[in-house]
Amino acid sequence: MTPLMPKRRRPWQADPGHIADVPEPPPMPDRQGELVGTPTPASQPGTPGREAEEVPDDGEAKHRDPASVPDPSEVEVPRALAQEIRRAMKRYPQKRSASIPALWAVQRRYGWCSPEGIRQAAAVMGVTPGYLESVASFYDLFRLEPQGEHQVLVCTNISCWLNGADGLLEAFKQEASAPGREAEEAPVDDVFVRGFECLGACDIAPMASIDERYYGPLTEDDAATVIDQLRSKQEVLPEKRLEDRPIAGEARATADKRVTKHTVNKVKGKQG
Ligand code: FES
Repeated sequence: MTPLMPKRRRPWQADPGHIADVPEPPPMPDRQGELVGTPTPASQPGTPGREAEEVPDDGEAKHRDPASVPDPSEVEVPRALAQEIRRAMKRYPQKRSASIPALWAVQRRYGWCSPEGIRQAAAVMGVTPGYLESVASFYDLFRLEPQGEHQVLVCTNISCWLNGADGLLEAFKQEASAPGREAEEAPVDDVFVRGFECLGACDIAPMASIDERYYGPLTEDDAATVIDQLRSKQEVLPEKRLEDRPIAGEARATADKRVTKHTVNKVKGKQG
């Protein structure tokens, strides 16, 4: 806890995450004993006496008020989505801590973090859409634009790379954009493929995350099978699914219940 502000006047306790009102730190003496860090009036935009030409005019957009917290009565939120977000909020003392699970819920429902989805989550959480958007734009796994119905992330980090990840990624890319497909079939960008950094499952290298489930070790031949299964809505490589591998020390393959019972896996396919 900072000693700079009395306990009862710490704004982030009343509204965690709101940093706009946090006061400037007090000036600190430098080596010569001079106080430094005190903002001079002329250094602040909009201060009387400040030269007009010093204020940068970057157009209207930058000076617009940010979107406020949406009024829940004005935003229609699908019941299942609202319930999932509220469940996540209950797990944390501060509602903003549920931002990541809330964004996941939005992404699972709409396939990406659409502006409307973010607004719905913001209405449920009582935060601004801008706040959730800033969280989503920070993390690589959140999509801020539509990227196809299915997503294949091939790990290209060290363990997977040593085991042929580059060839695997190339095979997935080729299969996903296979020429010669009939026009009436699913569009070629229905499967989004990209290389990714270590996904934390190095023991099954080379591996990939396919629609948020881990599979490995994969071969280049698996790429065609996977793309085919995704497009024909079949189960993807059940024998290579990480969640169905035996838990360490077990004689036979039984699913790890910590994975199968995880909300992510339970929610899949039950959106209403
Ligand atoms: S290097 Fe691929 S999962 Fe870690």
